[in-house]
Amino acid sequence: MSINKSALEVWSEIAPEWDTGVGRDGNVYWNVLQKPTLERLFADSRVSVCGKQVHALDISTGNGLTARWLTSYLGGTGEYAGGGDRDDERSEVKIKENDQREEKEKKVVVTATDGSEVMLGRARTWAAEHADVTPEQRALTFAKLDATSPDDFTKFYASPSQPAFDAILMNMAIMDVPTLEPLAAALPRMLAVGGVFVGSLLHPVFITPRTRRLLEVVHDYDDLEGQDDRSEALTSTTIKRSVRLDGYLNVAPWRGFAWPGQSRAQYYFHRPLHELFGVFLKGGQLALDGIEEPNFTPEQAAADATASKRVEASKNYTEFPIFLYFRLRRIK
Ligand SMILES: C[S@@+](CC[C@H](N)C(=O)[O-])C[C@H]1O[C@@H](n2cnc3c(N)ncnc32)[C@H](O)[C@@H]1O
Repeated sequence: MSINKSALEVWSEIAPEWDTGVGRDGNVYWNVLQKPTLERLFADSRVSVCGKQVHALDISTGNGLTARWLTSYLGGTGEYAGGGDRDDERSEVKIKENDQREEKEKKVVVTATDGSEVMLGRARTWAAEHADVTPEQRALTFAKLDATSPDDFTKFYASPSQPAFDAILMNMAIMDVPTLEPLAAALPRMLAVGGVFVGSLLHPVFITPRTRRLLEVVHDYDDLEGQDDRSEALTSTTIKRSVRLDGYLNVAPWRGFAWPGQSRAQYYFHRPLHELFGVFLKGGQLALDGIEEPNFTPEQAAADATASKRVEASKNYTEFPIFLYFRLRRIK
């Protein structure tokens, strides 16, 4: 079995756990770090800024959280909860009559995709008729897309029946796929000129098996020479956090857990920065025009219950970013 197939098999198996952990509205990593970063990187792609219908594609959507966010953020306020004009309040006949007209009138058209059919099933459930989401989020469309398969991308190439995308997202899944070549080749064929792709991953410098988190307890003494009683000279005790790398250019694929107690480990694929960006930039049609390294602030870490219980938690290492976000724009 190919390593991609094995990786996807694990994602299918852990899909229920992932769905439970992420839920409708996302976990602390999503809400505190990822969503605000995406809001900045996609600010210019909103309908209110573009002044036209926006087409968006979500690659590796997971339980659909990111596609639901794209729908609400690009098209409106960025809020999730449902209510208001629910589909189930409208007659079936009216829904059918209006389907085509609504497709044209929609402010934002988002397609959610994933390589795992099981995961996609989870995402579909969140868009089901009675799901507690907005009518726009229930109108998401879904399709299987294995990001390592050149063939899977072809149906999303711009064509008379498929408008070019203004915004494409692959949130926290860049490190989940063994090759980025098919995605990099497909992006210029899927994006409108001026359209953007935002990708994100675990930070390839600070979050790999070759990077260790260190913790030192440092007693700072006031060094008074010749004094016998030093007890009053002890001025402070501090905890110093640092990292040590013993590998970066060549880190073999590894398996790990995204949350404590996860039943099966998923695969991760490392790329040093020149490989990560090189694959997208080599064609000359995409330009890197946004980059962020989100992390918790010391204040956020201090207020977080899990971080204060576990001194070793990555959240406490506020100098070393957990995620890397980048935006590519199609320039020609
Ligand atoms: C860490 S989750 C991210 C989900 C979502 N983007 C989010 O931020 O909540 C990674 C996702 O990548 C998907 N995935 C793994 N390998 C893939 C592949 N080859 N093609 C497409 N999706 C893949 C998994 O099924 C999973 O849904």
